[in-house]
Amino acid sequence: MKKRLFIILGILLAVAAALFCVFGLPYIRRHYQPVRINRSEVSRTESVDMGGMNALIVCFTRVGNTDFAPDVDAVSSASLMIDAERAQTSGKVESLVGNSELLAEMVSNATGFDIYDIRVKDLYSSSYNDTVAEADEEMKSGKIRELEGALPDVTEYDSIILVYPLWWWTLPQPVQTFLKEVDLSGKTLYSVVTHGGSKFGNALADTEQFTTAAVSQNALEVYDDDVTKAAPKVAAWLRSL
Ligand SMILES: Cc1cc2nc3c(=O)[nH]c(=O)nc-3n(C[C@H](O)[C@H](O)[C@H](O)COP(=O)(O)O)c2cc1C
Repeated sequence: MKKRLFIILGILLAVAAALFCVFGLPYIRRHYQPVRINRSEVSRTESVDMGGMNALIVCFTRVGNTDFAPDVDAVSSASLMIDAERAQTSGKVESLVGNSELLAEMVSNATGFDIYDIRVKDLYSSSYNDTVAEADEEMKSGKIRELEGALPDVTEYDSIILVYPLWWWTLPQPVQTFLKEVDLSGKTLYSVVTHGGSKFGNALADTEQFTTAAVSQNALEVYDDDVTKAAPKVAAWLRSL
C-alpha cells in the first residue's frame, strides 16, 4: 500500500516537474529576465517598396514610459531586451529596448518612414506586476495618463503605422489618448501589435472607437518571445499592404 502511494507521488512529482520545464521556465525567462540582443543586427530588415505610401510610424512601448531603476537586473523586467552593443555595463537603463520599439525600428528600416514615440508625463512603475495593476486600474476607472511633448503634425502623411503592446486585451491607455487627440481623418491606420499570447485581443475592434482614421484589418501581431526574429515577418506584412 505504502509502496503504491510512493509510486503515485513519484509520478505526480515527475508530471509537475515536466509541466514546470515546459511552461514555467519559458514564462519566467520571458517575463522576468531581460534578453541580450545586438540591436542593429536583429532590427535589420530588407527594404520594401511601399509604392508611394507616406506613413508615420507611431510607437508606444514600456521603455521610456516606465520608471526603471538604474540597475535593470534588480527589477522585474518583463519583455525587455538589453542592447548588448550599447550596454557599457550589464543592465544599464539607457540600453534597454522594448518589443514595440524594436518592431517599429524594423518597419522603419524596411520603409524609411519616420518614427514618433508616444511618451507619458507620469511614468509607470518599474515592476512589471505593478504596471499591469496600474494599467488595469486606469482602464477600469477611465483615468487619463497625459502625454508628454508635442503631438506630431500628421498633415503630410496618408497613413499611420501604429505599433504597441497589447495591454489587457486592448490598446494601452496612452495609445487610446493619442488616437483621441490627433485628428487622423482621411488617413489609413495599420496596426502592429505585440502580445504575450492574446494575439490582437479586442484591439483592432477597439481602435475604431478612438479614431476617425480608416482602420485596416490587415494588421500584424507578434508574440513577445518572437520579436527578435520578426524582421522577415514584418517585411512580408509590409509587402502585403
Ligand atoms: C500592463 C500590461 C498588460 C498586458 N496585457 C496583456 C494581454 O492582455 N494579453 C497579452 O497577450 N499580453 C499582455 N501583456 C504582455 C505584452 O503585451 C507583451 O509582453 C509585449 O510584447 C510588450 O511589449 P513592449 O516591450 O513594447 O512593452 C501585457 C503587458 C503589460 C505590461
